[in-house]
Amino acid sequence: MKLPEELQFIANARMPQKTTDARMDGRVCIVTGATSGVGLAAAQRLARGGAQLVIVCRNGEKAAAVQAELAREYGTQTDVVLADFSQLADVRAAAATILDRYPRIDVLINNAGVHMTHRTLTVDGHETAFAVNHLASFLLTHLLLDRIKASAPARILQVNSQGHRFGGLNLDDLTWARRPYIGVRGYGAAKTAQLLTVWELADRLAGSGVTINAMHPGAVKSNIGMNNGLLYRLYNRIVIYPFLKDPAVAGEAIYYLAAAPEMANVSGKFFNLTIEERPAAHALDRELGKRVWVISSQLSAVSHQQEEKLKADS
Ligand SMILES: NC(=O)c1ccc[n+]([C@@H]2O[C@H](COP(=O)([O-])OP(=O)(O)OC[C@H]3O[C@@H](n4cnc5c(N)ncnc54)[C@H](OP(=O)(O)O)[C@@H]3O)[C@@H](O)[C@H]2O)c1
Repeated sequence: MKLPEELQFIANARMPQKTTDARMDGRVCIVTGATSGVGLAAAQRLARGGAQLVIVCRNGEKAAAVQAELAREYGTQTDVVLADFSQLADVRAAAATILDRYPRIDVLINNAGVHMTHRTLTVDGHETAFAVNHLASFLLTHLLLDRIKASAPARILQVNSQGHRFGGLNLDDLTWARRPYIGVRGYGAAKTAQLLTVWELADRLAGSGVTINAMHPGAVKSNIGMNNGLLYRLYNRIVIYPFLKDPAVAGEAIYYLAAAPEMANVSGKFFNLTIEERPAAHALDRELGKRVWVISSQLSAVSHQQEEKLKADS
């Protein structure tokens, strides 16, 4: 039975996934949030594929453990850059470090993310899920963009989520000051904003040799949501966790999107793991996307010069 378009994502999750044997030897790949779950699985798969890894993480001890594991298992040297993505100053500092250390960037995987059950604001005054999932990845991408373009062919991958389907994006109330905060909608708002900016950036990057795509990494075992209260954590571990897949599935899909030769010229798309999929209608509203782009630039303080340069280059 063919499902209606809006429910096709359920069928796509069960389809056989694509894989690639293409190697990534010597390719500089940046993965944010590589200390657990999806990001760790992506880092492991990229290390196995020979990539030169840079992991951007907030917890130095966890990052060192990942570094040691990747060295032991795959004989690779992984660089660590520390940054807390709830602070835009940290994102700026991380970008500066990366630009200082790496004359080329082949792949940027924006994976770090968080799900909040309660409304909290960051030191910059942004709602936390919106700041970590969207604003930080938006800013990091912009700060590294010139280097990524100079390294073309290059790829940017946004680890997004089917959670974008929960909606919740209200540009007049991004901090949820005027609405009761609902965790899945806060998460949905952040992921929707990220998707809308993917289409915008894909247009601006047309012809540059740099692609940008978004993907849902599957429903996999990870620590997402474990920053929340005891009841939620128990519910997560006892009720939801047993149904989730091994995060290696996500790592394999990310590797495919980052490495497969047939993905070299594919840009501005959303993938359910490796299956191209139509996102929710609200995440395809290009007029809304243009407003999200401007607001995200303002909120993350992407400089006017950067924005003008991007326009001139496109
Ligand atoms: N798991 C799923 O089924 C699923 C489904 C759809 C989408 N996703 C997406 O997959 C991505 C990874 O999530 P996950 O499920 O793997 O969750 P996870 O295990 O909690 O991993 C999240 C990663 O992001 C990092 N992170 C969180 N807040 C951060 C901050 N303020 N600054 C810097 N790093 C931060 C975490 O660091 P720490 O280790 O220090 O906490 C961790 O490395 C997210 O974008 C999520 O939305 C996951």
